Amino acid sequence: MTRKGPIYRPTRRTLLGQLIATGGAVMGASAFPRFSIAKPSPVKIGVILPYSGTYALLGNAITDGMKLRLDQQGGEIAGREIEWHVLDSEMAPPKAPANTRKLIGRERVDFLIGPVHSGVAQAMVKTLGNRQSPLMIIPNAGSNVLTRGICRPNVFRASFSNWQAAFPAGKVMAADGHKTAVTFTWKYAAGLQMMEAGREAFEQSGGTILKDITVPFPDVNFDAAITEIASLKPDAVFAFFSGGGAVKFVKDFQAAGLRDHMGLYGPGFLTEGVADAQGDAAEGLRTTLHYADGLDLPADRAFRAAYKAKTGREANVFAVQGYDTGSLLIRALEAAEGDPSRMDDMIGALETAELVDSPRGSWKMSPAHNPVQDFYLREVRGGQHKVLGIAEKALADPGDGCSLV
Ligand code: BEZ
Repeated sequence: MTRKGPIYRPTRRTLLGQLIATGGAVMGASAFPRFSIAKPSPVKIGVILPYSGTYALLGNAITDGMKLRLDQQGGEIAGREIEWHVLDSEMAPPKAPANTRKLIGRERVDFLIGPVHSGVAQAMVKTLGNRQSPLMIIPNAGSNVLTRGICRPNVFRASFSNWQAAFPAGKVMAADGHKTAVTFTWKYAAGLQMMEAGREAFEQSGGTILKDITVPFPDVNFDAAITEIASLKPDAVFAFFSGGGAVKFVKDFQAAGLRDHMGLYGPGFLTEGVADAQGDAAEGLRTTLHYADGLDLPADRAFRAAYKAKTGREANVFAVQGYDTGSLLIRALEAAEGDPSRMDDMIGALETAELVDSPRGSWKMSPAHNPVQDFYLREVRGGQHKVLGIAEKALADPGDGCSLV
């Protein structure tokens, strides 16, 4: 459903029009004490992110990054204040349809932001169906199909596809000389798609995957899997975990003595935002991601200082994705002069968006509405993700099956 928004930043002419329409005359306010100029209504932003469980730190970092960006605009977009409608996704795909319907049906939000979890994202987009509004911006969830088979004109991603995040890491594992590997992840869309992409890259480089091992999401009892990995004796393990689960897995992997016998690789989520909590167990791990610590970019230095000042925490990729989500919101609503019913203007602005001042480095939107961006090779040193180089320059998801391409 499309809602017509008010007129924003009224010009002298529109103000005069309002005066005349309300029966006022240009004679001074004191002659007409009941007359006042209405402030535009707030723009409604609906948010579905995890604020509990293993991905809570991701949801909080995204929220803080997004709010930081909007604070830098004085807490307004295109002259409109912001009204937040925030729900905890609980990382639960079965709850996503009701949450989505609540925000778009009952709260009538102008924008939908979320989620982190690929399964939640798929359920949200399916619930949106062919609705032409609201505009949805995905600040994390990497499910490939969101910008492939079920891509939508009014759905954009500010983060990555699961293929994009994992393919470069599979190549690195092979380039480091490993010939055999085991994949290990949570059994849901993100983990499965990332393992598939890692396998594709590793096998293209001549490697062999001995076995795919999974545990249910969000289990963190890894004992049986670690015993099996030890018995398979691969050269390396290729894994996806994130948040609290990543802390547990990387520590368990080291405690079981596997670090002494095999490599550990994967998309950078394995250590991102949690390297401090992992301590020694994370040291030396090499991963790939579209962000790293200590990028030599003025925009990143300014962002990190502002994020630290606002939250007391160090920034990470999730905060960057939230920050860039804020930038996309601003671009979209400014292009529509504050009127979210002007969907074509908002879509046009995001389709041509090039975020040259993103903390992650410059990136642009692909025709399938997914970032085309650099993926860095990083290594954990002293709890920091040091950049070793660019693993893939301007990597685009293939966007296969997206009707927009
Ligand atoms: C996902 O479910 O898409 C996801 C969650 C955490 C980190 C990366 C991807």
